[in-house]
Amino acid sequence: MREYLPILIVGAIIATFSTAFILAYAFMKNKKEAIGFDRNMKDTEIIKRLFKYARPHYKSFILVLLIMLLSIAYDLISPMFVGYIEELIKQDFELKPLFIAVGLYAGILVVSMAASYVQAIILQKTGQKILSAMRMDIFAHIESLSHDQLNQMPVGKLVTRVTNDTNAISMMFTHILVTMVKNVFVIVGILGAMLLLNYALTLMVLCFVPFVVLFTIIFRKFSRKAYRKVKDGTTDINTYLSENLSGIKITQIFNREDQKMEDFLEKSNTLCKAKQNQIFVFGIFRPMVYMLYISSVLCLFYLGGRGVIKDITMFGQAMNSGTVITFYLYISRFFNPIQALAEQFNFLQNAFASAEKIFTVLDMEPQVVDEEDAIELDEIKGEIEFRDVWFAYKEGEWVLKGISFHVEPMQTVALVGATGSGKSTILSLICRNYDIQKGQILIDGIDIKHIKKSSLRRHFGQMLQDVFLFSGTIRSNIVLREESYTEEEIIQACKYVNADAFINKLEAGLDEVVRERGNNFSAGQRQLLSFARTIIHKPSVMILDEATANIDTETELLIQDSLEKMKNIGTMLIVAHRLSTIQHADNIILLSDGQILEQGSHQELLHQKGRYHQLYMLQYSKEQLKQRT
Ligand SMILES: Nc1ncnc2c1ncn2[C@@H]1O[C@H](COP(=O)(O)OP(=O)(O)OP(=O)(O)O)[C@@H](O)[C@H]1O
Ligand SMILES: [Mg+2]
Repeated sequence: MREYLPILIVGAIIATFSTAFILAYAFMKNKKEAIGFDRNMKDTEIIKRLFKYARPHYKSFILVLLIMLLSIAYDLISPMFVGYIEELIKQDFELKPLFIAVGLYAGILVVSMAASYVQAIILQKTGQKILSAMRMDIFAHIESLSHDQLNQMPVGKLVTRVTNDTNAISMMFTHILVTMVKNVFVIVGILGAMLLLNYALTLMVLCFVPFVVLFTIIFRKFSRKAYRKVKDGTTDINTYLSENLSGIKITQIFNREDQKMEDFLEKSNTLCKAKQNQIFVFGIFRPMVYMLYISSVLCLFYLGGRGVIKDITMFGQAMNSGTVITFYLYISRFFNPIQALAEQFNFLQNAFASAEKIFTVLDMEPQVVDEEDAIELDEIKGEIEFRDVWFAYKEGEWVLKGISFHVEPMQTVALVGATGSGKSTILSLICRNYDIQKGQILIDGIDIKHIKKSSLRRHFGQMLQDVFLFSGTIRSNIVLREESYTEEEIIQACKYVNADAFINKLEAGLDEVVRERGNNFSAGQRQLLSFARTIIHKPSVMILDEATANIDTETELLIQDSLEKMKNIGTMLIVAHRLSTIQHADNIILLSDGQILEQGSHQELLHQKGRYHQLYMLQYSKEQLKQRT
């Protein structure tokens, strides 16, 4: 009985820990939350779609599998060599066979290292290719979404989809899947080798496996919960950061730095705790597996030692010290992959969660799509007609209620009206940024639904309410990556819209750097640049949403003058806040609450003595007041 005491002690220790873990799991809070990631797609569907990206690279993956066999060979064969060397040394000591054995050992090591290296290179290359294919798909898809769909998704989230989530998937292809396969091979291979060598000892090792499995299952539950908390915390901080960095100037202006700091600290602490929790979970799991490993090694030495010394045969197999050493090495290589498999399974789940998020974006059907037989327009005259157009951003909340008007080619039409009356909405409908619910919009007598979006927008120059400049240079912001414009054309465009005056004053001229969103330029300057950007593309219809209610008189005059000139280029639709800007328009449409209240030329509307007259008098007397002070 005493002979078995050490083994009984080991068994008791393992049993105690197992009981503790099972109890911990039984009392675990929010068990449901820990069971799975919020997923709607089936694993099989995700795998199928992921493999579509991997399929073009199947040759690389097969190559990697073949090379992997080489690197596994080291794990399997090298312990046998060490055991053999041990036996060699013990017997009549001769150098030659020892040298050969050591040389072979080194040879296997070198081959396996080289194999691992080549394998890593191939995988990384393939992974990057898959990654960039995926990134391009998502980016192209996001570009095809309608304004409405884009409005609904925070920019921060889209960035995460294109960067972090694709990265998680690339990790899966380059690292996780391959190591998982390798680990399975290693586990099976080592089991086979151990069985060949000595099944009594193999049985002893196998006794520990159920415990590893048990610990792993419980670990997975805890680690998922911890993992989810870390992920939630990270997303929370990222969202908070992206919004608050954009609005940091407001924070400073309103002296809210301290409050914002507190909010941030709270979020940061939550993430910190979640991370610590995660480390704690891993910190328990790894030593536990290590304990099992050490226990099995102790048992090996105990049983093996007795077997060798007392020359006992087990199941008819004799044991020597070489066997014990080989087994010792095998055991160490056996537990590692098991532990790694458990951890990798978590990463795999994470990659699947990322994949689902990406596929959800990819599955969003673009709302504004071309009809199958949509036509291409090479040229347009610039005639625009709205026929009883009804439109709502949200179902039931009509923003435009039966708008009808007609614009002849080369005419200038102005839209005026109170804030929120629907002026910008009309402009964005003409370019088909949204589809209307009722009525018709016609360009040159053709319903815009029958015209290809790209062809439609090519003939339009849009100058929106909030001018957006990309980071780059003035030149790049004017040509917008269209390479065919000559220097002369760019300069001409700038001159035409009076942007040359301020550009010439800049040190680098057209090559002056534009910072993010163009925040190193004034609102008036940005507006002039957007004019230049529009007219260089020689549009047939120009759409201008005037933003600058508060620019200096000098810039205002420049803008007025360039507007006058731009009228000669094509049809023009202007939203204007200062009625002085639009006195010369051929037609002025006064909107109120999504309906046309008055329509006519400046003089006609003044004669009507209606709402337009009121507005005009109001602004006129303000101007007078300004001039007197
Ligand atoms: N993307 C959107 N989603 C939902 N509602 C919107 C959206 N854009 C505008 N609206 C709503 O539609 C109405 C008309 O907005 P629009 O931008 O056309 O007004 P506007 O006449 O251009 O005003 P302003 O003179 O202030 O620019 C407003 O009530 C606004 O709340
Ligand atoms: Mg507007």
